[in-house]
Amino acid sequence: MSGPLLALRAVTKAFSVPGAAPVEVLKGVDLDLESGASLAIMGPSGSGKSTLLNLIGALDLPDGGTLAYKGESIRELTEAQRAALRNREIGFVFQLHHLLPQCTALENALVPRLAFKKKVDAEDVKRAERLLERVGLGPRRDALPGILSGGERQRVALVRALVSRPALLLADEPTGSLDAKGSREILDLLLELVREEGLSLITVTHAPSVALRMDRRMELVDGRLRPG
Ligand SMILES: Nc1ncnc2c1ncn2[C@@H]1O[C@H](COP(=O)(O)OP(=O)(O)O)[C@@H](O)[C@H]1O
Ligand SMILES: [Mg+2]
Repeated sequence: MSGPLLALRAVTKAFSVPGAAPVEVLKGVDLDLESGASLAIMGPSGSGKSTLLNLIGALDLPDGGTLAYKGESIRELTEAQRAALRNREIGFVFQLHHLLPQCTALENALVPRLAFKKKVDAEDVKRAERLLERVGLGPRRDALPGILSGGERQRVALVRALVSRPALLLADEPTGSLDAKGSREILDLLLELVREEGLSLITVTHAPSVALRMDRRMELVDGRLRPG
């Protein structure tokens, strides 16, 4: 029997600011995520949701506790191995799309492949084109972000997150910069693509309407996760 995709045990994280006592943001987070499951993480602003997502995304390391992917502790990995894990297993969608303004939709979608391999091959381009078609942006593939709507930019960001065929998608307030209709459209697409690609999903959100569409909800309170 295989274990969970992701397992956190007693994960802690503090930040030091010069001239002040360190702030312990995460005080012992436990979490299991099964393959193919979706989870909402809720909690007040400043409670550490983005900090937790950065640890799960192997962008940063916990101070204490363990965080393991498929049973493999990320603390045992070198920085290069962590980068490879990130590229192989994890896609990120942020509140703001962070698209490169001078690159087309297609080029932006291919950035993770470039970052990983230094060049893209025909298969990468085919995958990015297929995903752009899938999110309704086929005709916009050569458009620069500046002329796209907010919802279209977030769809490009979604394609970029999926281009490397990750096992886990991490979304930090993915609809936070969109109006109600735009939010609903992106969320529908996100959930459809997660299902089609067989991904696991963790979504950080303030919006109960978003959280209710995930399989499970947790709340980050006083540095710990509890059922939400
Ligand atoms: N790199 C950092 N250096 C210092 N403090 C940080 C850093 N990142 C986050 N913090 C602090 O940690 C707390 C949690 O931040 P964050 O994880 O962004 O919360 P949330 O995403 O829930 O709003 C905040 O008090 C924030 O100021
Ligand atoms: Mg945040």
